[in-house]
Amino acid sequence: MSNINVSNCSLLQVLECYIISVDSIIIPLLLAVLSAMWIMLPAYLPNPVAALMGGGTPIDFGKKLSDGKRILGEGKTYRGLLCGVLAGIAIGLIQIWLEDSYSWDFLPHHTLASIVLLSLGALLGDMGKSFLKRRLGKDRGTKWPVADQYDLVVGALVLLLLFDPSWLVANFTLPIIIIIIILTPILHRAVNIIGYISGIKEVPW
Ligand code: CTP
Ligand code: MG
Repeated sequence: MSNINVSNCSLLQVLECYIISVDSIIIPLLLAVLSAMWIMLPAYLPNPVAALMGGGTPIDFGKKLSDGKRILGEGKTYRGLLCGVLAGIAIGLIQIWLEDSYSWDFLPHHTLASIVLLSLGALLGDMGKSFLKRRLGKDRGTKWPVADQYDLVVGALVLLLLFDPSWLVANFTLPIIIIIIILTPILHRAVNIIGYISGIKEVPW
């Protein structure tokens, strides 16, 4: 009889421990990952949309600097920039609408300013990276690890810091920043492989 009590007791403890870990670790972690993706969605979307819709007149109009290299290169076009930014703003507006209509208080709240700054910042960061790539003599489409993945994060953060620092501080908490650092290269790689396989991108990075 006492044996049964002991095993019942330890089973209960295991169950209790499991419930506590779901409650205090797994759910907050999932919520933090969801929040990070929710915050970054207007910044993540512009790049793939630019790759899908881009083409036509290059932003630098084909001009070269004194180093003989293009200012930005053939891969940065007005159409890509415009379509990418508009797509980021469109998804952000849908997010704001969802937050308001369903009172999704468990997620961070976007504002008109935050979605514009995130979308525009993502593609300005991408252009800044291409500018540096050309100065380093790297041709269009060549791999530049780390910079290729984080350009959009840096661009979005810089614009938020300049034009809406209070939103930045309120939403980019340390756990969110850590998750963005881990998640961004994974998502970047996954999306680029899909883009490559489907023929949208010339290279899988
Ligand atoms: N694109 C665009 N306009 C932009 C950004 C991207 O048209 N402002 C399109 C281009 O067709 C580009 C593709 O999206 O080739 C993929 O973008 P990205 O990888 O950033 O450009 P790359 O061609 O790799 O050029 P870079 O070496 O300058 O990064
Ligand atoms: Mg590239």
